[in-house]
Amino acid sequence: MESQTHAISFFTNSSVRLDILKQRAFNLRWASVPEGVIPLTAADPDFPCAPEIADAIAKYAKDRYFSYGAPEGLASFKASLASFYQTKRNVPVSPAMTLPVDSAAYGIYIICKTYLQPGDEAIIFDPVDFLFKYSIEAQSARAVSFAIPASTEQVNFQDLQKLITPKTRMICLCNPLNPTGKVFTPAELEELGRIACENDLLILNDEIWSDIVFQPHTFTSIATISEEIRKRTITVTGFSKSYGLAGLRIGAIMAHTQEHFTSLFQASLHQSTVHGANILSQVAASAALDSCGYWLDGFLQHLGAMRNRCVDTFNSIDGFHCIAPEGCYVAWVDITKTGHSAEYIQQLLLEKAKVAVVPGLPQWFGAGAEGHFRVSFASSNEIIEEALARIKSVMS
Ligand SMILES: Cc1ncc(COP(=O)(O)O)c(C=O)c1O
Repeated sequence: MESQTHAISFFTNSSVRLDILKQRAFNLRWASVPEGVIPLTAADPDFPCAPEIADAIAKYAKDRYFSYGAPEGLASFKASLASFYQTKRNVPVSPAMTLPVDSAAYGIYIICKTYLQPGDEAIIFDPVDFLFKYSIEAQSARAVSFAIPASTEQVNFQDLQKLITPKTRMICLCNPLNPTGKVFTPAELEELGRIACENDLLILNDEIWSDIVFQPHTFTSIATISEEIRKRTITVTGFSKSYGLAGLRIGAIMAHTQEHFTSLFQASLHQSTVHGANILSQVAASAALDSCGYWLDGFLQHLGAMRNRCVDTFNSIDGFHCIAPEGCYVAWVDITKTGHSAEYIQQLLLEKAKVAVVPGLPQWFGAGAEGHFRVSFASSNEIIEEALARIKSVMS
């Protein structure tokens, strides 16, 4: 209880250093928007990371040795990740099957590079983060969309079966689902896994958002459903969302068979040193997993309050509708009843409210995103309240 009280104090308005963010936070955020605009765009927290992470980097740096690391990753990071997955996710991950990579984005890319040939097909959700389509198309393969509109209803994966052709190689699972915030239930995951097994498909399992799940919802990894499903699953995760380490570009792939690990490692180009995860980033991610659970608990508590504020406000605006996200710190707002396009509303909010949001355009989230915009609420109560008040005032 004491550490909870302590941790929540990290997420006050006085913790948010706008002077620094305006210099350092790119990707549509503070450093890329005009003065006066509040950027609720890329999902990247406005709070500094946990102090233990900065301490771990400083401690390592103090020795002034930055020699080449092991191509398969730092042993301490691999051990931390495997232990986290064994104890917190109930997934039997062995350290030897983990591969630190320079971001979850690159993890997705390596998996696609390893398993897709030109002309192959991979099924992605719609809407979903653009990274899946990007990595599939980079292999000259085709991304086939399976619609999962924002809803609290159980997804009927029987409909996904209809998209499978002889060219289908993989299903890309994003759990929790960015941008709708859906957290898949064990029954849904079992159904998805069964379809993958029956059709001999691989499951690219992106769990980068798995720490950000709001009560009463709970996270289940598809890799826990059965051994048969786990063996055709390759899990990717990252540290940008839970711990605010996006600029360190660190993530990890977890294979569940030796054969998969060997192929992924080879495709990663780590052995040749053309690619590899930065050693300081691995040290940071290891500290996050080992020592920053209390910080994450405080972050989640704060995010729960911000989620409720966003959902309540959006649902009080004529023509807007927002289902409370079960996970992810993004709100996905349905604006179809305004009669305007996502691009129109984005421009209106930018010009009149001075709030930047991400419009539901196909290039960000797929065709199913039209009629929506996304906001990230990983900021202070004061900044979120100010942004919401400005949006409400413009839309009234
Ligand atoms: C579902 C999903 N996967 C991967 C990423 C990329 O994470 P990283 O910063 O580790 O590349 C994101 C970032 O928004 C995401 O939402």
